[in-house]
Amino acid sequence: MDLLAPHSLEELNRLIAEAPPLVPGATQAVLGEGPIGAAIALVGEQPGDQEDLQGRPFVGPAGQLLRSAMREAGIDDAQAYVTNAVKHFKFEQRGKRRIHARPSTGEVAHYRWWLNLELDFVDPRLVVALGATAALALAGKPVPVTKARGETRFGQRRGYITVHPSMLLRIPDAEGRREAHAAFLADLKRVRQLVN
Ligand code: URA
Repeated sequence: MDLLAPHSLEELNRLIAEAPPLVPGATQAVLGEGPIGAAIALVGEQPGDQEDLQGRPFVGPAGQLLRSAMREAGIDDAQAYVTNAVKHFKFEQRGKRRIHARPSTGEVAHYRWWLNLELDFVDPRLVVALGATAALALAGKPVPVTKARGETRFGQRRGYITVHPSMLLRIPDAEGRREAHAAFLADLKRVRQLVN
């Protein structure tokens, strides 16, 4: 047994909050949110600009889309814990704007120990990977999201893979966006069924 390992989610969160970002620049670590014992844990990539400033996961545009799709799918807040594979915002500064930069495989691996402990404490019945970075963190190896979309296992954990909500925001045409949104919603409805 690792004597230095945290014994509660609170202790773990303290460690995460005190750790400096791997890539300098982030305002703060963004911790997971939701009840211990939540039926579903949803794992995103990393906090975005808004999350970094507010210190809460999924409060920016992609987060609002996710939260509204969860409501539409009948997943309520008491059932869901939301967190990220990487706890600090990584970005490129362009003028005044901070543009999201994808975390490297090494960065994802660095944060993985925390993510696994966090999920051990929350102990959800199903873990949902939102996009490729979350799937990489949970599976411990690259996963092709389009092919692997749907039910899966992440080691001992029951899992589900779907796209990241920010992908829906990047689709340029309305018809494509509508279809992608419907497929995302169908995934979340399936997720809800799997835990009910
Ligand atoms: N995208 C993520 O992956 N996580 C967040 O918290 C916000 C946007």
